[in-house]
Amino acid sequence: MPSKLNEIARAMVAPDKGILAADESSGTIRSRFNAIGLPSTKENRRAYRHMLFTTEGMEQFISGVILYDETLRQKALDEAETPFPRLLSDKGVIPGIKVDTGIHDLAGFPGEKVTEGLDGLRARLTRYGKLGAQFAKWRAVITVGKGIPTDVCIDANAHALARYAALCQECGIVPIVEPEVLMDGDHNIYRCDEVTGVTLRQVFEALAVHEVKLDGIVLKPSMVISGSECPEQASVEKVARRTVNNFLRNVPREVPGVAFLSGGQSSETATAHLNAMNHMFGELPWELSFSYGRALQAAPLRAWGGDPARFKAGQEAFFHRAMCNSAARTGTYSADMETAA
Ligand code: 13P
Repeated sequence: MPSKLNEIARAMVAPDKGILAADESSGTIRSRFNAIGLPSTKENRRAYRHMLFTTEGMEQFISGVILYDETLRQKALDEAETPFPRLLSDKGVIPGIKVDTGIHDLAGFPGEKVTEGLDGLRARLTRYGKLGAQFAKWRAVITVGKGIPTDVCIDANAHALARYAALCQECGIVPIVEPEVLMDGDHNIYRCDEVTGVTLRQVFEALAVHEVKLDGIVLKPSMVISGSECPEQASVEKVARRTVNNFLRNVPREVPGVAFLSGGQSSETATAHLNAMNHMFGELPWELSFSYGRALQAAPLRAWGGDPARFKAGQEAFFHRAMCNSAARTGTYSADMETAA
């Protein structure tokens, strides 16, 4: 019989669906709102999340939503003031929670980062479970540059991911394991391929040492892609081929699903890359899905702009991006879907 963790993980990567990452920390949402000239007040953040989560029909394309601490405790703007986690689960969308407390400089290793948040995590997970969270997220960041990443950085981040994942599973919560190889920099796709491979191997080794059940996690990686400043940008097909081949070597088949982050790619490019992977490769050991933040939210945020009169326009933009990414799950997305909109 499949375990409860496996059931949740499989529902998170169910066919045709993906995860909305709406777990921006206070600092990150402030910079997103700044871009549209909106002050980041608690009520504006609530109104924005309400707009996204009440989009009619989004549950056809969205399996789960990653929330931030504040949002997990906030209520929708309906008359009943339904808590956001319940609003989502009533639609069949699984609520999740970001549990790391942020990225910090790794002492002694200039330019490298390590993620914090393990202290007190068991108690926080228990509270989050009571508030309705069925899965959690922890983001580790690997920076590519001259002489980096070092083994020390990859090792420290893999260790933290494994301890986080083991704690989640102990609490009956599915861990999203997110090792992000940053696309910032002028490195080429081959360098990204190499760093991604080393990182995935270290992460799965740490998960094994900590006895994390691989059928009860979702992997959230970055794609194998050219650095954003690299003069030679690899084609969509090359990104798809390099990414999937790397994962075939390094991601165990027990993992139910891989849900990519968008990491600064444009919304359309992130969709095209996922589409090409699912189009070019037939049966794979794991589902290939999305867990996009910016690539799902940039369009609705712009369309809404904080203006109540543009509430519907924001929802339409969100619905459209969710639908395009759902099509990319089966390799049936085409650029015409953008112009048709
Ligand atoms: P992006 O898709 O914007 O990279 O965000 C996904 C995420 O959750 C990062 O932790």
